[in-house]
Amino acid sequence: MSQLQFDADTATRIEALYRIRDAVHRRELVREALGAALGDRILDVGCGPGFYCLELSAIVGPSGSVVGVDSSPAMLQLARARCAGRDNVGLLEGEATALPVESGTFDGAVCVQVLEYVAEVDSALAELHRALRPGGRAVVWDVDWATVSIHSRDTILTTRVLRAWDEHLAEPSLPRTLGARLRSAGFEDVRVEAHAFAACGGDPERLGAALVPFIATFVAGRQGIAEVEAEAWAAEQRELMERDEFYFASTQFCFTATKSASTNTSEPA
Ligand SMILES: C[S@@+](CC[C@H](N)C(=O)[O-])C[C@H]1O[C@@H](n2cnc3c(N)ncnc32)[C@H](O)[C@@H]1O
Repeated sequence: MSQLQFDADTATRIEALYRIRDAVHRRELVREALGAALGDRILDVGCGPGFYCLELSAIVGPSGSVVGVDSSPAMLQLARARCAGRDNVGLLEGEATALPVESGTFDGAVCVQVLEYVAEVDSALAELHRALRPGGRAVVWDVDWATVSIHSRDTILTTRVLRAWDEHLAEPSLPRTLGARLRSAGFEDVRVEAHAFAACGGDPERLGAALVPFIATFVAGRQGIAEVEAEAWAAEQRELMERDEFYFASTQFCFTATKSASTNTSEPA
């Protein structure tokens, strides 16, 4: 069955999800890992609703620029609204595996929770490498969904729900191979930092509580999970939140990597 579609409804729900405190914190971590400076040209692959484009455009200033690329017209519409009036932001429709940008033109690039949705990750990494100038820095962030743990009285149903949720993307545990794949794509100085996102209690500003409705909607009708079972699972989670007994944890991975300063810039566009 098909993975999550970034249509208008999903785009709006993801935009709302990315306003919560945990998502704001994640963006701080990504910006810190990138270390963009005034005047830099930054590429945002899979820019989604444009939060990074807007925030990075303020860091690089009018002498710098940010280009966001996304394959979803609905996401790009939100990004255009968010970045309206920012002359140093460009937004392009395109695939991570065939970036509509010139070779060697970016000082830095971010690609946050995108590659796990891409079937041809190695092609996307080759494109990221091509787009950067020699010495340019990439920040690639993905989730290992196998690290998710959720408290429930029905552990069997929860295991089935999480297995069905794995269908929402192409590579549920991409971080396990990402370091080696970045090196194979030609990147140097590949490093990883793990970041745990945990919640105990029903705080809607934490990732766990905000994810439950996404998961429940997606898994209904998949891997033998009936709609009533998905709804029962979500109802228990809501009940746990109301009683402040909700528990969720997951680990996300921030990879940083550099394009060799001695790389030939005449790679094919
Ligand atoms: C989970 S959202 C993350 C958005 C953004 N990076 C952020 O963190 O705010 C994933 C985004 O990747 C985009 N995407 C998925 N597959 C893609 C592909 N093959 N090429 C370009 N964008 C893609 C989706 O349209 C969506 O906007």
